[in-house]
Amino acid sequence: MPATGNILHIGMSLAATWLTGRDRAAGPQDRDPIAADIELCRMSEAARLDFMFLPDTLFADPRGLRGGAGIGPGGLDPTLRLAALSQHTRQVGLLTTVSTTFVPPYILARQLQSLHWLSGGRAGWNIVTALDGQRNFGLDDMPGPEEKYARAAEATEIVRRLWASNPAASADDAPPAEPIDHAGRYFRVAGPLNVRMPPTDRIPLVQAGASETGRSFAAQVADAIFASTPDKEAALSLRRDLRRRAAAHGRAADDIVVMPGLNCYLADSRAEAEELFMETHAGIDRTRRLEMVRQMIGLDLTDWPEDRPIRAADLPELPARLRSRTHSGLLRRMILRDEPTLAELLRRPESAGSGHWRIIGTVDDAAEQIAEWHRDGAIDGFINVPGGGRDSMRRTLQELIPQLSERGLFRRDYGGDTFLGHLRQRRA
Ligand SMILES: Cc1cc2nc3c(=O)[nH]c(=O)nc-3n(C[C@H](O)[C@H](O)[C@H](O)COP(=O)(O)O)c2cc1C
Repeated sequence: MPATGNILHIGMSLAATWLTGRDRAAGPQDRDPIAADIELCRMSEAARLDFMFLPDTLFADPRGLRGGAGIGPGGLDPTLRLAALSQHTRQVGLLTTVSTTFVPPYILARQLQSLHWLSGGRAGWNIVTALDGQRNFGLDDMPGPEEKYARAAEATEIVRRLWASNPAASADDAPPAEPIDHAGRYFRVAGPLNVRMPPTDRIPLVQAGASETGRSFAAQVADAIFASTPDKEAALSLRRDLRRRAAAHGRAADDIVVMPGLNCYLADSRAEAEELFMETHAGIDRTRRLEMVRQMIGLDLTDWPEDRPIRAADLPELPARLRSRTHSGLLRRMILRDEPTLAELLRRPESAGSGHWRIIGTVDDAAEQIAEWHRDGAIDGFINVPGGGRDSMRRTLQELIPQLSERGLFRRDYGGDTFLGHLRQRRA
């Protein structure tokens, strides 16, 4: 599928994936939790990125909590963190993640609308159904995937109706707020919302989760998709499928912006970039990684010989309860296609539970590969999930992004001040 000729849409994750061991030791994050965020926001806004992004979970794995001072592994609440950052930025969008499985729609609608006011129209909602954390919300088991999506669909509908229930007003014209009187399968919500809609573009909806049900949900409601596509074929087929589904729902195919996560490890030469990658991953906790693989596809590799290929016949039945069908599917697909050894498997993004697109090389290599994926119709943009430390991140923002602008693939300037406006901007 050829590209549309539209510009790319680019977000920057604020999650601390970019800290190499060296940066982490030197990092002032915990003493001043917002200083590093502000710096990254300013650099991203100077590069004219569409948005800053924060993923989120509502649990902590006790094995990851080995003492230590400071904030801890989960980080601060993403919506509060972005609210603070809204006061240090003017144009960049602010995409928060809130789970429909755990957070009631009224609270969710109010938090998002509050962020939208505080930022002057720059809030965005990454709708997730969540991977874990049920025991923090009075549940023994995670609801099954179909139930999670049914809840997500109902919650999203309620949130949109709540936003609309208290419409924007100018000083002398105040339309009344109206109840929504929702009584559905999972929720009963009277409304109206106690916060008015700001007089600006609405809040864009982003969705992550690419199982059959996830795609169908996204095709109906999402303005953009946060995708896991470790290779171009995965991106091509996901984008093609989502565009077809959007059209079947009477939407324009271009209404859905498909953005995979992208880890860049950038350096002056390919050899140095490879070194940077190896250094960043040298400290992986092998036992935890093997446990993740076991959870994702049911295969126990604890005693597996390092150089024995893993083949289709080695794969057991998928576990009945999967945290993410998307990520399990990506890992199985890679094993069936590549028959990796254990060492190769551990090096691949699919085994890390994220499955993101990865570029290890020079700035020119990255620009070339991004241009190719865009030209071939595999992406509408990407969310930069930095790997490889501060220097690689600086190269991304100060060298790679300007190069994409020079190639006409990315904006030279913002066309407006709202997040939805950025996502709808089509020409540089
Ligand atoms: C790229 C990507 C990012 C995700 N980010 C989050 C997140 O930040 N927090 C979260 O709780 N779940 C996250 N999820 C999980 C999804 O919301 C969903 O629960 C999961 O993928 C299962 O849906 P599926 O059956 O469609 O795969 C993410 C999923 C994907 C694919």
